[in-house]
Amino acid sequence: MELTGLKDYAVLVESLTKKFGRVTAVDDLNLKVKRGEIFGLLGSDGAGKTTTLQMLCGILAPSSGLMFVDNFNVEVEPDGVRSAIGYMSQDFTLYLDMTVEENIDFMADLRGVPEADRQRQKERLLLFSRMEPFRHRRAAELSGGMKKKLALSCALIHLPSVLILDEPTTAVDPLSRTELWKILYEFIDQGITVIISTPYMDEAERCHRVALMQEGKVIACDTPANLKKQIKRKVCTIKTDMINRACRVLRDELSTPVQIYGDCIRLFLDTPEKDLAIIEAGLIARGIMVEDYFETTPTMDDVFVSLLQEQDKQRPKKDWVPFACPGESGGSSIAVFSLIKKFGNFTAVNDVNFEVARGTVFGLLGPNGAGKTTVIKILCGLTPPTSGRAEVGGFDIATNPRQVKKSIGYMSQLFSLYPDLTVGQNLDFYGSVYGLGGKEKRKKKDWVVDFAGLQGKEKYLTSELAGGWKQKLALGCAIMHQPAVLFLDEPTSGVDPIARLEFWDIIYRLSEEGITTIVTTHFMDEAERCNIIGLMNGGNLVALGTPHQLKQDLAVDFYEIEAPPPVLESSRRLAELAFVRQTTLFGDKIHILTDKQDNELSLEHLLAAGIMVEKINRIQPSMEDVFIYHVLDDREQ
Ligand SMILES: Nc1ncnc2c1ncn2[C@@H]1O[C@H](COP(=O)(O)OP(=O)(O)OP(=O)(O)O)[C@@H](O)[C@H]1O
Ligand SMILES: [Mg+2]
Repeated sequence: MELTGLKDYAVLVESLTKKFGRVTAVDDLNLKVKRGEIFGLLGSDGAGKTTTLQMLCGILAPSSGLMFVDNFNVEVEPDGVRSAIGYMSQDFTLYLDMTVEENIDFMADLRGVPEADRQRQKERLLLFSRMEPFRHRRAAELSGGMKKKLALSCALIHLPSVLILDEPTTAVDPLSRTELWKILYEFIDQGITVIISTPYMDEAERCHRVALMQEGKVIACDTPANLKKQIKRKVCTIKTDMINRACRVLRDELSTPVQIYGDCIRLFLDTPEKDLAIIEAGLIARGIMVEDYFETTPTMDDVFVSLLQEQDKQRPKKDWVPFACPGESGGSSIAVFSLIKKFGNFTAVNDVNFEVARGTVFGLLGPNGAGKTTVIKILCGLTPPTSGRAEVGGFDIATNPRQVKKSIGYMSQLFSLYPDLTVGQNLDFYGSVYGLGGKEKRKKKDWVVDFAGLQGKEKYLTSELAGGWKQKLALGCAIMHQPAVLFLDEPTSGVDPIARLEFWDIIYRLSEEGITTIVTTHFMDEAERCNIIGLMNGGNLVALGTPHQLKQDLAVDFYEIEAPPPVLESSRRLAELAFVRQTTLFGDKIHILTDKQDNELSLEHLLAAGIMVEKINRIQPSMEDVFIYHVLDDREQ
């Protein structure tokens, strides 16, 4: 090892290997992270990211290899490493009996953060996490995403030289994620190095460099821009109204791997000029109208899918077990009337009304703490409403709770499996709870193991499974008894892009069988795939409609602006203009939202207002724009 080069690097890893029994989780890994860099660690579930990060922190001992963090040899100088790093683990711990503020203070004490810095940083963190109003609430009473943000705030209260964050933003809403990245960039300004693992590809895009891991190895490591150049085939986009059917046809009948991206389908082709026309003909022959198709510039999602899928082994698929959806037909499957839920003086759900037709995929969106999980828990009969009424699968939740329980499947936001049982034992357990036996149970078990990609892992302890596998197993357990109504509370939290695609395939298959699904998600590309969206904020249902309707209904115009750096400064100046209602950063671009105007906003217009901009384009709002519009709009009132 060339120790002379050490000081340029915050992290230096050589031939790092970690074996758990027969499994090699990290396999001869080499990594160099420069000082002052935001370095992203990406990879499918089980690729070895968490194991790597834990070894860097000195939590796990490697089987072999060398690691230096901030010049300290991790194995030889563990105390040095501990003082140099800040770490947030995937399975964070909070003191549930203490309030938000007490948790942060406690961590600051532990880390010896000086009083003056502490106050400033604490207020900054409470602001980013939008938890300022809840500083005195006990951690136990926070929503899932709020807990995550609190854990993150605890990790960020002291300023280490190397910050290691293991999926800090899963379960965190889009607005807070944007805010968090602003904080990370401030850290970089102060010379801190950040290593972050994330399943969000828009975050990968914001890293200086990223390493793509697969089966314990780094298969590519470079800047996002250079990685995009490594994609051998061309990225193409197809637009169609029948996005889910088209996807299935493409994959199953035309053997073309595809990916959903917002309201478009993306695919990789060798010769798009030729292939696209053939694919269009194939789709039309199957009754699927194609609105448009074209070649596109690749995104990090494309990098992920293309580099990982190329190496992915094709596994044979078992037959789909068809659902014989019991009894019910037509009409609404879920109906909610004036639902209110109060915790003491606090109203978590405020007079919510909606109906969901049978077979619909209904997306419940909203920032952390909006009340989504609370609504789901009420509908599942896990907590009674303070007032109001609801029907699920035709049964009143208050007068017919047992029938309701029989007709639903529920996948809770916090992991609902038994960690100390194996995969097989969990499936057996849930099968028995639902009264399945003998051949029937075995058939369903096989089916779940197959679609979750857990073949060969039946004997693994559930606690040892990587995040995405756990989630798929949990979904499997929730649908083993073939319920008519399915509640999925953030089923894809922490799940990688390829596995999320498979997840949504399953959701759509279930929908075609007539199963009604209420799903929550913080991924906006998933929101785009819901038939109907209910957007909640502060306990209120603030918008309801199809993704298309929600975009159409906005009484504002959207523009994308490119400005010379620093972008943050341009964004601030734009925000000061009278007709600009909101500005949001998207990577190096700025989205602004203006009141509807007769004349389109032009470059001259902005230059005349004294703002240096290079480009301005009127854009169609994305789901993220819709989300931010409603959430900020509601807050202003
Ligand atoms: N037992 C409780 N006591 C007091 N407040 C509670 C309790 N349970 C939930 N809350 C509060 O109710 C609000 C809504 O929480 P909920 O879990 O429904 O949010 P959510 O929309 O699911 O958020 P997330 O996206 O973070 O999962 C939050 O402000 C939360 O702190
Ligand atoms: Mg929730």
